[in-house]
Amino acid sequence: MNLQRFSRYPLTFGPTPIQPLKRLSAHLGGKVNLWAKREDCNSGLAFGGNKTRKLEYLVPDALEQGCDTLVSIGGIQSNQTRQVAAVAAHLGMKCVLVQENWVNYSDAVYDRVGNIELSRIMGADVRLVPDGFDIGIRKSWEDALASVREAGGKPYAIPAGCSEHRLGGLGFVGFAEEVRQQEAELGVKFDYIVVCSVTGSTQAGMIVGFAADGRADRVIGIDASAKPDATRAQILRIAKHTGELVDLGRPIVDQDVVLDTRYGGPEYGLPNDGTLEAIRLTARLEGMLTDPVYEGKSMHGMIDKVRLGEFPAGSNVLYAHLGGAPALSAYSFIFRNG
Ligand SMILES: Cc1ncc(COP(=O)(O)O)c(C=O)c1O
Repeated sequence: MNLQRFSRYPLTFGPTPIQPLKRLSAHLGGKVNLWAKREDCNSGLAFGGNKTRKLEYLVPDALEQGCDTLVSIGGIQSNQTRQVAAVAAHLGMKCVLVQENWVNYSDAVYDRVGNIELSRIMGADVRLVPDGFDIGIRKSWEDALASVREAGGKPYAIPAGCSEHRLGGLGFVGFAEEVRQQEAELGVKFDYIVVCSVTGSTQAGMIVGFAADGRADRVIGIDASAKPDATRAQILRIAKHTGELVDLGRPIVDQDVVLDTRYGGPEYGLPNDGTLEAIRLTARLEGMLTDPVYEGKSMHGMIDKVRLGEFPAGSNVLYAHLGGAPALSAYSFIFRNG
């Protein structure tokens, strides 16, 4: 495998810490050892998160092309767009963000606080559009790209979650290589890696990275899109393409993609009772914050799988914490009593 031949522009602090979740593991019976790898605090750029690791491989391409404006898209409380805004500010570039109406939720301040507030503070040109949830390429985003060109700018196109981008899977191939190095230092080998999936390039990159040591199907995706067919197809497509890019040495096949579809409901962006229980439990036992859109759903999945005995006793399970806590304030009504 050859990830090194791709340029990487450092935006993160370096390897992210891996921490044991001792009290959560004990609370769930102590038979399975839970750990977290903290992508949620991977950077000083506006709190970072999984997109910051992906963007490290897109930025050299943007700079080489001489682009002056990063253009991206997501929901109103998108973590992706907040991270793109931070990277643009850091590089001295302009930033246009299309924020679609992906979530049927309306705390009075939903479009004022959290991620969107931070993007505005960082100077991004934030454009709200009424279109609903869809992880594919969007007309609103193509319109934004055209508007930058018409104004004489040179846009760099970053699709939702960086996922449809040619280089979008590389960051999490690097994640797997980092985990292997940390396993050697810790003297622990992870039997399973739990990851939240929506637009797909996080899990796709991990599948390729862990395929290198035979663990592709030990990457357990937890769907948070509530439209898992589209997410699964996108994961497979990106993983196939990323495997070829880095010369994995074997094709990625359907069986490499494990996506658990039990925890994503009722809809993208809306928590279910299990999501909320997982958020509160993890916060109260570990002081670790997860959000109702993404990480609370994958945390619910991991907790439930422990309770159902789906991980063999003695397993070491690594929860990839991908960020997302900045969205919590947009859900203040749900948590008004804790
Ligand atoms: C906090 C968080 N977790 C998980 C995901 C899902 O990652 P991906 O879109 O690469 O599947 C995202 C972004 O969509 C995210 O912001």
